[in-house]
Amino acid sequence: MAVREVITWGDPRLKKNSEDVGPWTPELEQLVADMYETALAEEGVGLAAPQVGINLNLAVIDCSCGEDPAQRILLLNPEIIAEEGSQKGPEGCLSIPGITEVLERPQKVTIRNHRPDGSTYELVGEDLLARAFCHEIDHLRGRLFVEYFGPVKKQVLQRKYTKNQKAG
Ligand code: NI
Repeated sequence: MAVREVITWGDPRLKKNSEDVGPWTPELEQLVADMYETALAEEGVGLAAPQVGINLNLAVIDCSCGEDPAQRILLLNPEIIAEEGSQKGPEGCLSIPGITEVLERPQKVTIRNHRPDGSTYELVGEDLLARAFCHEIDHLRGRLFVEYFGPVKKQVLQRKYTKNQKAG
């Protein structure tokens, strides 16, 4: 397993629509293992394949941040099929280090997900998990969470982000 480089805001690969994952391969198995390790190393709840420069509809989520292997969720060609309620809370992204902003998301989200063998099943997430589903699936559609803000706020965040990057 290896920690992969996470690409950051401004990289065009983060704005692309990703492609569906096809038949399962040892390379995909390795990618998933590396992504769990990378998310853990960077202390993120989730990581989407485009963030390691691979435009595939694949993401990993671990709301326990490495504490409980049973909480690991592999998203494969996921699709949101229902949303309920709303929650307001802080959101951040490993591709936009140093920026955390309050964002409204649905409180409960149902997704249709795939297993490596291609079979489908439904998953329901509430609270943090619902937020993670939305955030990671947005990545697969080429959308970063900062895109939800208006142009003025986005510009402020961009300036803050650039300043942070320069400061190291
Ligand atoms: Ni993110």
